[in-house]
Formats: sequence, structure tokens, C-alpha cells
Amino acid sequence: MPTIATTLTLGLVLPTASYIIYNWYIYPFFLTPLLKIPGPNPNLNPFEIDSNETGMTELAQIKEYKSNIIRGFGFFNKPFVFVASPTGIKRVLGTHAHNYTRKTLGYNLLRSFFGPSLLVSNGDDHKRQRAIANPAFTLKNLVKYIPTFISSARETQQSWNILFTSGTSVVVLDIAEEISKPTLDIIGRCAFDYEFNSVSNNTSDFYLWITTLNKQFDPKHILEDMIPITKYIIPSVWQRHVKLNKAKEDIRRFAIEMIERKKDEILSRANDLSQDVNKVHDLMTLLLEANINAEAKRTLDQDELVAQTLLFVTAGHETTSTATTFALDFLAKHQSVQNKLRQELIKDMPQQDDDPPVQYITSSSTYLDAICKETLRLSPPFPQTPRLSETDDWIDGYFIPKGTRIITSAATNGRLEEFWGEDVLEFKPERWLQPNADSTTIGPFIPFSYGIQNCIGQKFAEWEMKTLVAILVRSFEFSPVEGHTFRKALGAVQKPVPNLMLNVKRVE
Ligand code: HEM
Repeated sequence: MPTIATTLTLGLVLPTASYIIYNWYIYPFFLTPLLKIPGPNPNLNPFEIDSNETGMTELAQIKEYKSNIIRGFGFFNKPFVFVASPTGIKRVLGTHAHNYTRKTLGYNLLRSFFGPSLLVSNGDDHKRQRAIANPAFTLKNLVKYIPTFISSARETQQSWNILFTSGTSVVVLDIAEEISKPTLDIIGRCAFDYEFNSVSNNTSDFYLWITTLNKQFDPKHILEDMIPITKYIIPSVWQRHVKLNKAKEDIRRFAIEMIERKKDEILSRANDLSQDVNKVHDLMTLLLEANINAEAKRTLDQDELVAQTLLFVTAGHETTSTATTFALDFLAKHQSVQNKLRQELIKDMPQQDDDPPVQYITSSSTYLDAICKETLRLSPPFPQTPRLSETDDWIDGYFIPKGTRIITSAATNGRLEEFWGEDVLEFKPERWLQPNADSTTIGPFIPFSYGIQNCIGQKFAEWEMKTLVAILVRSFEFSPVEGHTFRKALGAVQKPVPNLMLNVKRVE
């Protein structure tokens, strides 16, 4: 009779050891067809984690291997392919997007946290969801939100003004924290006609639940999220699980109530012949209206509607908030750019309390626009977009087997010398005012991604960012705080950690 030790060795230890040796060493070192692609070798230590700023290791490798497509090996030596060439990006995110899905670990975790939203959907599911969301994101509708961007920026200006009343000439502010307030208020007002009251510090329950969820969506918890059994073994993981579930349930209840209320409003509006056609409707109302009018088999179910609620807050808040924060940081570090911008602003807003004209905000040929693009080039909130190949394919002449993780990166491509020139690392908004500057060129500039799954909120984000920068720079001067440093850390978006402090002085 076999002893317990023999049974364990044969039944458990041997298969596990074979799995590890094959997947961590034999396949990546000798068998993967990706070895034909230029790039570094697998790691002898398969637990090695890249701690550089996202996309910077690959940037160095692109230079080293003189190739815009490189292979790499991640945690546990899992192979991936990094695609930086315009032809490769066009194939992965554009022409063959159906073959490169979001079924990656990161998106699976996003789905488990935030539900089956547009951001994590694929194929026909994505097409159906996007068709329902599209009417809310037309330029004609988005332009109606600019007055809300303006009033939220003014509230921030006023809340900062109060800090100067006691004769103080300079205040030091955590800009990341400060900017996250109006951007949350803006998404609440424009997406749901809901008041987060963030600038006035009247924090709502909805905000607290969402913060709980966002804070826990962090790479430091990745192992426990990947291995669900840990929550039954480790008490602290269980406590986190309970807290998260409670937040999810509260958000779900809140979202369902809001959705039902809005549906009633839409139906009663449909029967009201005296309705005002110019009324500004929030994004969720427009999405629900499209859903009510869609063919039954194309509609979103309740889970999907709840997930869009959360998506609008998460995709629409932290992204614009970090982008605006980094813009102010770049301006603080480049005083001549800041002064030049203020001169442009004074022309369109001669008095400090003059609002920026709508055409100024929507124009893509201003210095303000160039500053925002330059910020997104060097500090994109979503530094990379991962995908999974669903079938065998070829990219730039290299064979890509089914199941390969593909990464495209706005952070890397924004720093490729061959596209941007020798001054690639300089913050130089003037590059966008050259006659041949083309922000839509595929490859070099992809902070909003590209193709059928690109950012649906791009114009919302750009106009919101420009409004905030215009009003704040017209009223305040920003400069660096001596000795203050931060690093860029990747959670749901890439943001400054632990914070981003700047000196703020009133423009006289
Ligand atoms: C500077 C701000 C923003 C940046 C850099 C940004 C970037 C992106 C990127 C890179 C994607 C593609 C992700 C992927 O392909 O997997 C995306 C998707 C998306 N974004 Fe944004 N975003 C921003 C602001 C916003 C805002 C303000 C909203 C909503 C009001 C929004 C809503 C969405 C949605 C719904 C998707 C999913 C689109 C789809 O899959 O069809 N984003 N965003």
C-alpha cells in the first residue's frame, strides 16, 4: 500500500513541480514562438517585478533592440508582446480589434470590482453597449456641459481664495487632492445630475462607497484578488472582502434607485408635449433613453446599467483629475510656459471673473490645447492598454500565438524619439502648434487609445481639463515646493504618490 508521503508526492507535488518547471522555465526559455521577436530573455528569477515607471523599461528595450515590437517576460515568466509600431497598434486596436480582447487579468479584476461595463466588454457585447452609450457622447451634447465645468472650476477658485484672506501671499496645496474635488463634482453633475458636494466638503455616502472601492483596486492586493480562497484563510483579507462587498451592495442599491427614478422621468417627459428641447440632460438619462428606445435584444440589462453608473464615476473622475494635476505641475516647473499661457488667457478673459468662451475651450489650435496635449503625451493617466490574442495572428511579420498578452502603451509611444524628435523628453507645448503636428497620428499619441474601443469620453475630458486649467491659471500662479518629490504609481490610473504639492499665489 502506498504511504501518505508517496501519494502526496505522486498526486500533488510532482504535477505542481512539473507545471512550474514547464511554465516558468522550459516554455519561456526554449519553446515559445515569441523568442523570434527581438527582446530580453526570460528571468532566472520568475518573481522579478519591474518597478520602473510604467512603459519606461520597454522604452529602453525598444532603443536597445532597435525594434518597435519586442517580446518580454512578466511575473512567473509569462511572455508578452509589446507593440509600439503604428502598423502593429493599428492592427491590435483597430482593424483586428475583434481578435485582441480585454480578457486580461487587469480587466477581469475591473469586471469583478465594477461590473460588466462598457470598459471591460468585448466583441458584440461591446458593440451593443457602445451603441447605447454613443448618443450621450455626441459633441453637440458634450458642449452643453461646458457651463458646468466653468461653475465647478469657479467653486474651486473661490474655495482657494478664502485661504488668502489672512494676509498670506502663498499657500501650499496638495493639488492632486484639490483637483480631484471639482472633477468629482463635475462627473456627478454631468453624468447623473447628482451632487457629490466635494468642493464644499459635504461628502456624500455615494462618494464614500466609491472611494472604498477605488482604494481597494490596487496592485498591492493583486494576489488575494487572483486567489479568492485567501479570503477564507487570512482574517485581514476576509475583513477587506466584507468591506468591499458592503460598498458594492450599497452602490448597487443606490444606482438601481437612481436608474428607476430617471426612467420614470424619461417616460413622463415623453408624454409632456411642452418639454424644452434645449434642456441639458445628464449622460445617464441619455443612455437610459437610448436603452428604452432600442430593440429588445440590443438593450442593457440591470447589471450592465449599474456597471455603467460606476464606470462613469471611475473612468470620468480620476482620469481627468490626474491629467489636470499633472498639467498644473508641468506649468509650475515651466514658468515661461505658464506666463505665455496666462497672456493668451488674458486676451480671452480680460477680467479674472470673465468666463472662458466656449469656442476657446473647444478650439484645438490654442496654446492651452497644446499644453493639455503635451501633458497627456508625457503623463497619460492610462499609460498602457493590454489585450489578449484570441486566435493565432501575425503582427509586423512576427507570429503571435493564440493566448498571447499584447501591450500597447501611450506612455512609451509618447516618448519615442523617432516620432517626436531629439527634444522628446522636454515639456514643449509649441510642438503642437507646428503646421504638421497631427494629434490623431496613430502610434505616437494614444492617451485615449485608438479604434472601436477608444475613450468615448475624450472630448468631455479634454474640454473639462482645459476649462479647469484656464480658470485656475487665470487666477493663480503655480510654482514647485522646494524639496517636494513624488513618484507615478499605477492603480486604476497612473497618479502622483504620495501627493503632489505646489505653491499657489493669487494673480494680482
Ligand atoms: C484625461 C482623461 C481620460 C483619459 C486619458 C481616458 C483614457 C481612456 C482610454 C485609454 C480608454 C481605453 C481603454 C481600453 O481600451 O481598454 C478609455 C475608455 C473609456 N473611457 Fe476614458 N479617459 C479619460 C476620461 C474619460 C471620461 C471623462 C469619461 C466619461 C465621462 C470616460 C469614459 C470612458 C469609457 C466609457 C471608456 C470605455 C469605452 C469603450 O470601451 O468603448 N473617459 N478611456
